[in-house]
Amino acid sequence: MRRMPLDSLRRAVRVAPLAPDLVGRAVLGRVARRIAGKSIDTASAPGIGNRAALDTDPRDTLGALLPNVPIDELDTFEREYEAIDKELAERAATRTLPMPPLWRTARETGLVLYTLVRALQPAVVVETGTANGWSSVIFLRALAKNGGDGTLHSFDVRSDVGGLIDPEERERWQLHLLSGGSLQEFDAELDQIGPIGLFFHDSDHSYLHMRLELRLAGKRLATGGALTSDDVSLSHAYIEACEESGLQPRLLVDGYKASGFAVR
Ligand SMILES: C[S@@+](CC[C@H](N)C(=O)[O-])C[C@H]1O[C@@H](n2cnc3c(N)ncnc32)[C@H](O)[C@@H]1O
Repeated sequence: MRRMPLDSLRRAVRVAPLAPDLVGRAVLGRVARRIAGKSIDTASAPGIGNRAALDTDPRDTLGALLPNVPIDELDTFEREYEAIDKELAERAATRTLPMPPLWRTARETGLVLYTLVRALQPAVVVETGTANGWSSVIFLRALAKNGGDGTLHSFDVRSDVGGLIDPEERERWQLHLLSGGSLQEFDAELDQIGPIGLFFHDSDHSYLHMRLELRLAGKRLATGGALTSDDVSLSHAYIEACEESGLQPRLLVDGYKASGFAVR
């Protein structure tokens, strides 16, 4: 049997005081994957497609999550988003950016995120994984269009993030840099931020990190808030976090991966 990589072990030890239940599960998962070629959750529990509704069209996702929003309002939000998506593509093509273009939030996922912020009007949006700031611009533009004093809190481990965000968009933006990606630090920062109207995970997608990040955000979710995540098909982390918080997620297949959305 090959040994577990040292950084996974270090991560498990660091996270242990915050969530001993998850560490045990993650370590067992790694061992099972080494022995059987399958992670413990995919080997022993129903797949994510059996535990959540699967959509291939973002309009289906939005219709299910926002049943009380009239269709013409959803159409208006979609038109607003199309213009921002186009603008972002132009910015990306004309700027020198440090992170790979592939890291950007997919178009369909972006539409759902934008519409949720427009429809739910959260005062606080939190995202983890900022990179060049594609998702950040989507959130910032939706908050600006809402017209209140809504704020976006973006977390990352790198300081060279946000190259796509224009100066005037930064007024309602707060960047939080985590040394070494520590979840203890993330937990403490969330204490300062208050109830979260929308949370979006797009940082470290390893099971343990994603699972705990979503737990820490899920327990601070405001009434009517949304727990959302990119890359939900990599493990059961998102599904488990929703089940733990009593949320019923929709999963959206967007080309080559899937994102998840749930509204309290
Ligand atoms: C897929 S990219 C995010 C893409 C971004 N949402 C967008 O739409 O452009 C992942 C980002 O997560 C950051 N990251 C990695 N580990 C992290 C951690 N533990 N905490 C916070 N951010 C992390 C990386 O530095 C990178 O910027």
